[in-house]
Formats: sequence, C-alpha cells, structure tokens
Amino acid sequence: SCRAVIFDLDGVLTDTAIYHFHAWKALADELGIAFTEHDNEQLKGVDRLGSLRWILQKGGLTLSEAEEARLMQQKNAHYLELIDHMTTADLYPGVQQLFAELRQSGIKIGLASASKNAAFVVERLGIAAQFDYIADANQVINSKPDPEVFLLAANGLGVAPEHCIGVEDALAGIEAINRAGMKAIGIGDARVLNGALKVYPTVQALKLNDITEL
Ligand code: G6P
Ligand code: MG
Repeated sequence: SCRAVIFDLDGVLTDTAIYHFHAWKALADELGIAFTEHDNEQLKGVDRLGSLRWILQKGGLTLSEAEEARLMQQKNAHYLELIDHMTTADLYPGVQQLFAELRQSGIKIGLASASKNAAFVVERLGIAAQFDYIADANQVINSKPDPEVFLLAANGLGVAPEHCIGVEDALAGIEAINRAGMKAIGIGDARVLNGALKVYPTVQALKLNDITEL
C-alpha cells in the first residue's frame, strides 16, 4: 500500500517549465541555435548541464567547461528573473487539497526535483513546510532518468521505494521513478509519458482515491 507520494516540482506543482523554456530559448537564439517547444519537451526533468549540452549538440557546438559554466550562469540568472514574481497564486489548482487529503490519510509527502532552484520555488509557492522531505539537484550526483533523487527522497521519508508513488510530468522522471522501484503517475499527455501506470492531464485531476487504489 502507498505510504508516501513523491512529487516532481517543475511542471507538476507549478508551471516553471514555461520559464525554463523562455530562458533556454533566449540563450539558444543568442548562440544561433534553433530551439522549439517540441525540443523543450526532451529537456523536461533534465538537469542544467544536461540541458545545455543537449542544446549545444543540436547546434553542433562543443565548448570548454568554463564556457559551459558561463552559459549556465547566464541562463540561470535569466530564469531567476523570470521566477522572481512567483507567489502562492502560481501553485497549480488542486495541489493544496491533495496535500491536505494525503496528510489526513497519513501518507507522507516528498519532493524529488532536478532543479537547484527547488527550495526557492517551493518557498515562493508557500508549500515548503508541507513536505516531509525535500530532495533536489543540490544533493545528488546522477540526475533523472537516474533514480538517485527519488531514492534519496524515499530514504529521507523513511519509506521503502515499493511503498512510494512518484508523480512526474517528464519522460526522464517517469523512467527515474520506475528505476527506483516505485509506482509512476504521469501528469500530462498519455501518448508522451510512456511507462507511467496512470496519466492525468493535470495534478488537479489526480485524486486521493487514484493514489490509494494504484
Ligand atoms: C527541472 C526542469 C528542467 C530544468 C532542471 C534544472 O527538472 O524540468 O527543465 O533544466 O529542473 O533546473 P535548474 O533550476 O537547476 O536549472
Ligand atoms: Mg517536471
């Protein structure tokens, strides 16, 4: 039975995916590399360096580590500007209610994010205190689709992976959940999120029953 639900952040609890896209697009434009929303789909859940290298590769560019570091810093500064105005109003509808129902049912709530900005974002969304454990990119070596961040969250929660459900909007994230030995719920398009046991269009459509019955 389910004892913990571990949520991804970007694209599951809030729409930061659009800001990541804008910031990468601005950088790609500057480098003269075409970058579309379709391309961005591949980058959801992929960490900062992995995302940069994906874009550089698309443009046939290989840069030094120092250049890569400079470009990541530039993208992140732009991203931070874009998310600076975020408030509790940016939390997706349905999240507060789902969290409250999970809590009432004694199911723990975790976060497993590939973002180094996760703590800042959950603080802005006003939900930081609702997590029993937060695992993010600052604490792991291997990023999604590696299961490390989900396993770290389960460990922090004190719940065995087989009693955890992971919730993700990205293909890399679904793979990470499956490799962690957890059950995967997708948020988004069922045709895209292969490997998820169930897919819901939004987190609001995901109900407590769906979780307890999975
Ligand atoms: C999430 C997003 C990715 C982003 C990654 C790293 O997984 O889905 O689009 O690249 O986090 O975010 P960061 O805030 O550390 O640059
Ligand atoms: Mg995501």
